[in-house]
Amino acid sequence: MAATQQNASIDREHWTGRIGFILAAAGSAIGLGNIWRFPYSVSEGGGGLFVIIYLFFVLGIGLPVLLAELSLGRQSQRNPVGAFKALIPGKFWPYVGGLGVLTGTAILAFYSVIAGWTVGYLGKSLSGTLAEATDGESSGAVFSSFVADPLWPVLLSGIFLAITLLVVRGGVAKGIERATKFLMPALLILLIALAIQALTLPGGIDGIIYLFTPDWSKLSLNVVMGALGQALFSLSLGMGAMITYGSYASKRENLWKSGTYIAIADTGIALLAGLIIFPTLFFAGAEPNAGPGLVFVVLPTIFNQMPFGSFFAIAFFSLLTIAALTSTVSLLEVAVAYFVDEKGWRRNKAATAISGFCFALAVPSALAFGAVPQLSGGEQSILPFNLDFLTLNNNIWGNYSLSIGAIFICIGVAWFWGVPKFLASLEDGEDRTFPMPGREVVGFLVKIICPLCVLIVFIFIIVTGNYF
Ligand code: TRP
Repeated sequence: MAATQQNASIDREHWTGRIGFILAAAGSAIGLGNIWRFPYSVSEGGGGLFVIIYLFFVLGIGLPVLLAELSLGRQSQRNPVGAFKALIPGKFWPYVGGLGVLTGTAILAFYSVIAGWTVGYLGKSLSGTLAEATDGESSGAVFSSFVADPLWPVLLSGIFLAITLLVVRGGVAKGIERATKFLMPALLILLIALAIQALTLPGGIDGIIYLFTPDWSKLSLNVVMGALGQALFSLSLGMGAMITYGSYASKRENLWKSGTYIAIADTGIALLAGLIIFPTLFFAGAEPNAGPGLVFVVLPTIFNQMPFGSFFAIAFFSLLTIAALTSTVSLLEVAVAYFVDEKGWRRNKAATAISGFCFALAVPSALAFGAVPQLSGGEQSILPFNLDFLTLNNNIWGNYSLSIGAIFICIGVAWFWGVPKFLASLEDGEDRTFPMPGREVVGFLVKIICPLCVLIVFIFIIVTGNYF
């Protein structure tokens, strides 16, 4: 056993370099969370107020937890279960990694349904059927009938999982890194083009004012908690995705520096998405409070009122597809790394088996918007809280499980592995010239502040039953 583990460490694939590592990790972080979830969280959280609190959490909690995960992975050169086994003694800790593997698989199952909708909308914008969405009502009808179909959402989530599988089967350097090196620049170019277009719309400036001016009267515990949840979800934290990606980083990397770049990229893209969506909303005179349907219901209407709208619709849904793909790849990779490292499976077998399992789990989520009334929430729902199956899973895994994971990762790193070892491993690269301002602050944040804050969120979610 010890011998195999030794070999696994020597044979372990690595990113070919720093750029590849940063792009892959940024690709994991940047996803539907930035372009679909962030804008509607902003509109529910009072615009600029939400943005300011969110930025505060990214810096104070997101970045420290990200650094903790990356260093656990890089130091151990293992998947989340193996990382805890290698660095922290005790039978309990590998279960934290195990929870992460489970959580990643479950998140992938519902995430790929929404990713499938995105592909469907890309298809609609290419075929011209999105042109039917001329106002709020018709656009809402297009959306509801699309998601209620018993076939397409299932098929599309399957297709999305199959593409994810293809990338992950290719391995770390030839699959994940190569795909993200091509996809991330494409994403950035599309986003910048769309942002320039949006900013030149008449009335667009009001959208920017909305995005950056806090309305303090909207301040509530709810907004604060929403911003914290968004910071964790958006940076792919709490289930070991960043442990796994860190495990493919070489000892040459200065993680403090890479982690900072990843957090900046993720936050920058979320803001850029805001710069596209809010000016466009204000141009159309639409109210910025459309909830989760914002991207699928409100935007198509607006695209149809814009010059070259169908072109921008195609660009927008392509970029959403790209962003989702680099995230689903990271979700699948966590479980694949576990079965390869710990169970000795071949990568191919692990990736195929897990994505097949995910597809089976995705089916009920894909049918949860009208196709099967018992799964679709409301009165007829057979599920707790009368939720639909997808929302239920999003709550359980995307909120509860990630929060629990983040708390234990911080406690494990700071209290049991130890702050001095953690900080030393962060700076373990060749490039020691990068300043690490306030290294003690990072230690304190991981040791006390982060677990405490996330615990408060967790309790808040349970007590109020207020999931989003
Ligand atoms: N961060 C991604 C997004 O913003 C989603 C994601 C990928 C994720 N891997 C994760 C979320 C791991 C939580 C944990 O869309």
